[in-house]
Amino acid sequence: MTDAEETLASEGVTHVVRVGGTVRRPVRPFTATVQAYLAFVRSRGFTDCPEPLGRDAEGREVLSYVAGEVPVEPLPEHATSASALGTLGALIRRLHDAADGWALPADAVWGGVPGVRPDGVVPLFDEPELVSHMDYCPGNVVFDGGLPTALIDFDLARPTTRVADLANALYWWAPLAAPVDRAPSLVEADVPARVRAFADAYGMTAEQRAAVVPVANRMVANFLLTSRAAAEADPVFRRWWDDGLEDRLPRTVAWLAAESGRLAAAL
Ligand SMILES: Nc1ncnc2c1ncn2[C@@H]1O[C@H](COP(=O)(O)OP(=O)(O)OP(=O)(O)O)[C@@H](O)[C@H]1O
Ligand SMILES: [Mg+2]
Repeated sequence: MTDAEETLASEGVTHVVRVGGTVRRPVRPFTATVQAYLAFVRSRGFTDCPEPLGRDAEGREVLSYVAGEVPVEPLPEHATSASALGTLGALIRRLHDAADGWALPADAVWGGVPGVRPDGVVPLFDEPELVSHMDYCPGNVVFDGGLPTALIDFDLARPTTRVADLANALYWWAPLAAPVDRAPSLVEADVPARVRAFADAYGMTAEQRAAVVPVANRMVANFLLTSRAAAEADPVFRRWWDDGLEDRLPRTVAWLAAESGRLAAAL
């Protein structure tokens, strides 16, 4: 008997189906690189991510299905707890430590958002330190028992720094967003305190703590530019842009600039 195919996602970037204990996703130019990366971090002991299982007869990529609950926005209250945030910080620390030292394949290909890289995008670092996830949106974090237990969807994994990767996680989970743009249970959250708790759970160094707020400011300014360009290039990004990103990202840029002193002080 063959397992039935259950569609997990068809409205986002990727059409994902579950077949028994596996998921099947379309093969993209970066798929082989991401599978090699997942195999490496798993070999180094970070197994809280899908296991790469090659391709199926239809030419789709095959990954192990990770059991649990994947939150969708707005985040449910349990996904916004202090313990969930701290657990995510510790999870990312283990990913980083496992990924450190990976010898990039010579033919590595990285994913990215659609659209031509617009003028004004500023680099977040001089030299990459490691390859990491770089897309910690709620739909890419698996929860179990109210806590993050695994990371999925490494489609935007690429060479980066620990700080740039952590800024991405903070954007989604602190979150780095104006109160009006947060999940209901985070509207009144003490974001500087949450950023500090996340930094502590990760074990950020003094140098990383000093760098993360400036990097986050550059990151959100880049998001505004690249999201606008992506909306021009791709219907899924167009929908996200028209459904709120167009207003939200400028608010985020302004809110983060205004809060940067408080965030840096808390760190
Ligand atoms: N290996 C997996 N194990 C369990 N669930 C998965 C797995 N891969 C994908 N899913 C489910 O399918 C959803 C979409 O998968 P994925 O994140 O890979 O695609 P996507 O189109 O990039 O999504 P998004 O645009 O929301 O990031 C996930 O949010 C999750 O619910
Ligand atoms: Mg995803």
